[in-house]
Amino acid sequence: MPPSLLFLLLTLLLAGSGGAAAAGFDLEEATIDSIHRAFAAGELTSRGLVELYLRRIASLDPELHAIIELDPDGALAAADRADATALSSSGALPPLHGVPMLLKDNIAAAGALNATAGSLAMVGSRAARDAGVVERLRRAGAVLLGTASLSEWCNFRGPGIPAGWSPRGGQGRNPYVPWATTCSSSSGSAIAAAANMAAVTLGTETDGSIMCPSSYNSVVGIKPTVGLTSRSGVIIIAPRMDTVGPITRTVSDAVHVLEAIVGYDPRDEEATRMASKYIPECGYKQFLNIDGLRGKRLGILRKDFFLFPSGSVQEKVFSEHFDIMSKMGAILVDNLEIPSMNVINDVVQSGERALMLAEFKLSLNYYLSELASSHVRSLSDIIEFNKNHPFEERIAEFGQDYLLQSDATNGIGPTEERAILKLNKLCKRGLEKIMKDNQLDAVVAPGASAHSLLAIGGYPAITVPAGYDANGVPFAICFGGLKGSEPKLIEIAYSFEQGTKVRKPPSLQDPVI
Ligand SMILES: *[C@@H]1O[C@H](CO)[C@@H](O)[C@H](O)[C@H]1NC(C)=O
Repeated sequence: MPPSLLFLLLTLLLAGSGGAAAAGFDLEEATIDSIHRAFAAGELTSRGLVELYLRRIASLDPELHAIIELDPDGALAAADRADATALSSSGALPPLHGVPMLLKDNIAAAGALNATAGSLAMVGSRAARDAGVVERLRRAGAVLLGTASLSEWCNFRGPGIPAGWSPRGGQGRNPYVPWATTCSSSSGSAIAAAANMAAVTLGTETDGSIMCPSSYNSVVGIKPTVGLTSRSGVIIIAPRMDTVGPITRTVSDAVHVLEAIVGYDPRDEEATRMASKYIPECGYKQFLNIDGLRGKRLGILRKDFFLFPSGSVQEKVFSEHFDIMSKMGAILVDNLEIPSMNVINDVVQSGERALMLAEFKLSLNYYLSELASSHVRSLSDIIEFNKNHPFEERIAEFGQDYLLQSDATNGIGPTEERAILKLNKLCKRGLEKIMKDNQLDAVVAPGASAHSLLAIGGYPAITVPAGYDANGVPFAICFGGLKGSEPKLIEIAYSFEQGTKVRKPPSLQDPVI
């Protein structure tokens, strides 16, 4: 049979079975580069890819609860537009051309998708326009599949609420070990990336919310320097600390997404203007350097961070990783200690909690005021809604203490000013000093253990899969640094990833494809 006829037959057969499958293209562990190669080779269309992901989500999500909303019509229409552009244009396509992605459910997009932070009070809220990062994603050619689940209000409803749970999303599940935590709060984004339910995802972090779920779900998370990515149109907790970043299966994919979303946004004026000086002229992909560990001075934060029992898998694996990193040319400065780490890790003592409570009310009320329509227009309205819907919200069980405490605050007053001064001092005498004294390019810590250290100063971090413990629960290595150090962190993280290749996809029951 002539090859063209065979191809025609295959196409017809596949069209009969939904038209989604694609010769030579593997959905599992697909990367932006592999997707673009398959597009260019004519093996795959963006529509076909959206259909593949929708089928995979339909098969896996009843178990994993990584998704809150899907917008199949919007996604297919965007995919068709991308496919038409590819056919009609001879020039370069945009960097995320036809790439299906999920947004954490606190990031607003104009159109069918609702951003609700997992709360039933927010159902029916319509954004007047795209969040700053979503505007950039659309310009870069990305296709929005839907919203990913999270811990309600980014884990800021109150203490004791299960990680990865929200009234709208239910309980997210770790795709590796069903009883293990998904961690908080960008849980759905991390689960979905891990289980190949989208090409790439976006999360947000105040203090640990990208790093921790990325670590527990064996995916790469970039928590950018605060202000590098706009927070306009995002339900955040605290402008001092909140940042939007990618959660993906590879460092390269995360960097592709980062490059697409960074930049000045007049709607998040001060922070994005300050941070835009850090953006390298030719973008971030140039730092995907396999030899990126060579000559880098890495400070290993032992005390307060490497808290594994001796003889544990983690202890053995990290020591192997450090050997590999040395062989790849890194200079390891071991046994570094951050002064006052007990204070930094105690959100009440450090002042972090006080600042978050005050800033949350201001940010949320501002976000709500910008909506085109909404049943709730203030934090007080949300608290009231919760009181009136105790059953749906499991309000009696979990309470809403942070919401109540936040509502009792009154802007940035003397208490908050004191908190800011204290946090600034902890930064200066903590990370800033240790980086300078030891001339470090980055600090290294396991998983999300350095989340507060990095949160309080708006510092960047990248987590990369590092291993699986005795029960198969994933853990990561984290590289953190001073503001604007993304280029170095990317070199280090990419080189580490390529030198170790730790990530394995989860073995899931009966995925349809
Ligand atoms: C967004 O919420 C409205 C209800 O307020 C609902 O009709 C619509 O289906 C939601 N969008 C999606 C994509 O689920």
